[in-house]
Amino acid sequence: MNRSDNRTVLITGAGSGIGRATARRFARRGAMAIVTDINEESARETVALIKGEGGRAHAYHHDVTDPAAWAQLAGVVALKHGEPNVVVNNAGFTTAGRFFDHTAEDWERMLAVNVMAVIQGSRVFAQQMIGSGVRGNIINIASGAAYVPVPLSTLYSVTKAAVLMASECLRADLARHGIGVTAICPGFINTAFFDSAEHLGIDDNEGALRRSISSGLAKRVGHDPDIVAKAIVQSSVLNTAVRPVGFESHIGYALARLSPGLMRFGARFAKGDELSALGKRIVPEPVMDWLAGPAATGAAR
Ligand code: NAI
Repeated sequence: MNRSDNRTVLITGAGSGIGRATARRFARRGAMAIVTDINEESARETVALIKGEGGRAHAYHHDVTDPAAWAQLAGVVALKHGEPNVVVNNAGFTTAGRFFDHTAEDWERMLAVNVMAVIQGSRVFAQQMIGSGVRGNIINIASGAAYVPVPLSTLYSVTKAAVLMASECLRADLARHGIGVTAICPGFINTAFFDSAEHLGIDDNEGALRRSISSGLAKRVGHDPDIVAKAIVQSSVLNTAVRPVGFESHIGYALARLSPGLMRFGARFAKGDELSALGKRIVPEPVMDWLAGPAATGAAR
């Protein structure tokens, strides 16, 4: 185990998936992991895993949509563990459904978690870093959906494009203070993300089927969240601007630059209803069962 990294690293949504893998990877290098999540029990489980591996970690309950909680968290962490050198704005979720299936409340809810929380976290901790002279890193988890216009959830793609652009602008703004900002853009990752996605605008049975297929696919062919964790740790050292993770995200990133027209054309064929109908027509039932196969893994990865 490499014990050279004595930074303090704060990760939101670290009770599960990518956040958990990131906390574990930083801790294995010797960093102190500040593990926060709205689900405090899952944050404690992450801490227990890290301590079991000989690492250092502390769990905090934190709802990223609560502006007052950000300032409180920053104060407590600074007092007890020192100002974080790295902040990973990771907490996020998705829904699936067409534009008209999402209400104004759906937009507000997801914008609050996926966008405004990233802004809050960047603001509070960048100010703290500047005030205490820490030349740290802010790492924001965007997505390949930030540059691939797929209408499976316009809302999700919009939030992730906002995170990508916010990260690019902040990077330019904060460079004078020696603070690096990175946008991480994962592809298809095997986490509880797909188990919790609400499918809107369709009946419950169809929603359950689509959820089990996307969850099953993530478990069968999705990347291990540790590849994202590895990219995050590397980016915190190299201060990478934008980091696609997974071959599909790299392809999307390259195509979005080389041929945006082709991307837009392809997007027309990637609608949930059509994909589902096509899947039922051409994919034999045993294969469908296999795809939807393994039970939900939840947060306990
Ligand atoms: P996950 O569902 O395993 O983990 C998300 C975590 O965020 C959960 O522990 C959840 O409790 C927490 N969370 C949700 N709302 C919160 C709130 N208001 N306050 C604090 N914590 C909250 O999902 P995963 O995959 O680990 O997602 C992490 C990030 O990666 C998200 O921003 C997601 O959009 C992004 N991402 C995931 C991809 C995937 O294929 N799994 C692909 C691209 C991006």
